[in-house]
Amino acid sequence: MERYLDMTHNPSYEKLQEVANIIKNDGIVLFPTETVYGIGANGLSKKAVEKVYKVKGRNIKNPINLLVSDIKMIENVAKDITELEYRLMDAFFPGPLTIILKKKDIVPNIVTAGGDTVGVRMPSGKIALKLVQKAGVPIAAPSANLSGKLSGTNLHDIIGDFENKVDFIIDGGESKIGLESTIVKVIDGVPHILRPGAITDVQIKDVAGDVVLDYLNKNEFLPSSDMAHYNIKNRCVLVKADKGQVDRVNAILKQCDNAVVICCDENVDMYNSKVILNMGPKDNLEVVSRNIFRLLREADNFSPDIIVVEGVEEKRNR
Ligand code: TXA
Ligand code: MG
Repeated sequence: MERYLDMTHNPSYEKLQEVANIIKNDGIVLFPTETVYGIGANGLSKKAVEKVYKVKGRNIKNPINLLVSDIKMIENVAKDITELEYRLMDAFFPGPLTIILKKKDIVPNIVTAGGDTVGVRMPSGKIALKLVQKAGVPIAAPSANLSGKLSGTNLHDIIGDFENKVDFIIDGGESKIGLESTIVKVIDGVPHILRPGAITDVQIKDVAGDVVLDYLNKNEFLPSSDMAHYNIKNRCVLVKADKGQVDRVNAILKQCDNAVVICCDENVDMYNSKVILNMGPKDNLEVVSRNIFRLLREADNFSPDIIVVEGVEEKRNR
């Protein structure tokens, strides 16, 4: 049985030193960040990072990002950082942005899947940030889910998959953001978004003057773009947010008697379905984001014929 620390109430950060020592000694730890939970290991240790691949069942061709706590740590693992890359880090660190930089030799090849770049993120979640500080090494931390499954935004949803497979577990309650970090790579002086996340393209454009969305198709810059993500067991449809949305959801429900609907606050009374899960007010995308992974898991657990999800307004600037 691994050791466990409940930091949901009155967290005492001094206790993190013990967990940081486990990281320094090549152990692996399940812990919260402000985006989603992570499984962390010493990012400079091949042996420790191998364990992370193993417990997640992760494809060895899929690189892992490093969590860092300050610029010095970034400059220890990355080189030739450009003015624009510094500007992006200045604007969004600490926070939900991962930036892909040129790697230094100190980073083991297993972290980068043999590539010459490394993903770096400085988390704003206090537990994650202090854990990296106390460990004194970057922490390689993919999302804490079995490969291909939904990311975990609370311990309850993922503990079953990792119990007895990690050396330490920290409970930090519900993730504040509930979506992963946005992944950005500067290519020929322009930031490309490789994976959408908590920071929007508009925010990046505001800082950089330009942005390219690379996540709409499979792309060579994101090694995992041809791998499966967010698999759920049951059929799931997303109904676009427009004025016919409620009617279209109802038309689907007419054909099924065992459906789960995930909808916004405003529409919970509009549907005739045994199970209706409320993702929050339509206009509060922060709340919707925080809830969506948890609700998809909850919906899946009912083993319905179909899960119908109301889409929300796409706030994207092309
Ligand atoms: O918010 C997050 O980023 C969370 C928390 C735990 O920090 N982590 C996370 O990690 O989502 P993961 O491993 O589930 O997703 C990281 C993505 C993968 O799609 C991987 O292919 C990509 O980042 N990635 C990692 N290193 C890369 C690199 N050098 N170049 C391009 N993509 C990279
Ligand atoms: Mg993931």
